[in-house]
Amino acid sequence: MGGGEFASRVLRWFAQYGRELPWRGIGDPYGIWVSEIILQQTRIEQGRDYWLRFMERFPTVESLAEASEDEVLRLWQGLGYYSRARNMHAAARQVVALGGFPRTVEGLRSLKGVGDYTAAAVGSMAFNLPAAAVDGNVYRVLARHFGIEVPINTTKGKHLFEALAQDLLPDGQASAFNQAMMDFGATWCTPRSPRCIDCPVGETCDALRTGRTALLPVKEKKLKVSQRHLSYIYIRHKGMTALHRRPAGDIWQGLWEPLLVEDAPLPDLGCPLTLIASGVKHVLTHRILLADFYLAEPEKRPTLPTEYQWINEQDINTHALPRLIEKLLEKLPPA
Ligand code: ADE
Repeated sequence: MGGGEFASRVLRWFAQYGRELPWRGIGDPYGIWVSEIILQQTRIEQGRDYWLRFMERFPTVESLAEASEDEVLRLWQGLGYYSRARNMHAAARQVVALGGFPRTVEGLRSLKGVGDYTAAAVGSMAFNLPAAAVDGNVYRVLARHFGIEVPINTTKGKHLFEALAQDLLPDGQASAFNQAMMDFGATWCTPRSPRCIDCPVGETCDALRTGRTALLPVKEKKLKVSQRHLSYIYIRHKGMTALHRRPAGDIWQGLWEPLLVEDAPLPDLGCPLTLIASGVKHVLTHRILLADFYLAEPEKRPTLPTEYQWINEQDINTHALPRLIEKLLEKLPPA
């Protein structure tokens, strides 16, 4: 089946099953834009009521531009992600200053809070610009139908799916096709229980043929940024201090550091520990380190694990130190 056939089947489905939404077919870029901003992080059912109230209070972009931020935020209350409302208010003023909504995708994209998806959605629905709007629903439909395993949350995936959607866009019907794809994804080709039995494009669906609807789309797992809490104790004893060298197996391999305590009570070194700095933050790619730094000045040289070496304090800078340790040492009072 060619791209044209896919599009016409989806459009035929849309004519029969498309949802009735109050901003559909109004042609007014302002109302369409408001709906898209609301729907960015809000479900259709909840968004519909907000849209109706919003449009009643601010029926034109001029009325929104003239409003106080306070009133805009009050109308937005309960929707969350309030930066959307603030950006929208600022964008309304941009539009008024421009003398109306830009009529190109790039122009729309220059409005505050308008990204690729929203520019394509508003451009296609308000001005019938030939721009594919790829939202989460569209990613799912395309990944399944064309059996694409490239993760959708990667740059490569974004480019690939956008190019494919753009290829499928039927001439002169961007508005209907974009909305058809969104509705189809939202009500038919759903994440967990797609209606494959009466799917209008089931015959040519790669995921259905290979039994992979539950496996597509693929999302790359983002590595969780974990936090580690470290306590470093700088021991000062007769002009000497103890360091150890990080063993193989981590990014600080081979670097030197003072007495480290992690996930354990602070040791008894026979003297009080003076807190020099606390919660010093050090951001690594997949980890955030939070370090407390103590000074201990014992009368007697404490016994430490064998990997620690006693060195002259003046020689500390001849040792390679992690940046975090340098930051801590800067806070150390002079001997
Ligand atoms: N989600 C965001 N905009 C939409 C639209 N115009 N139709 C259906 N779903 C949407």
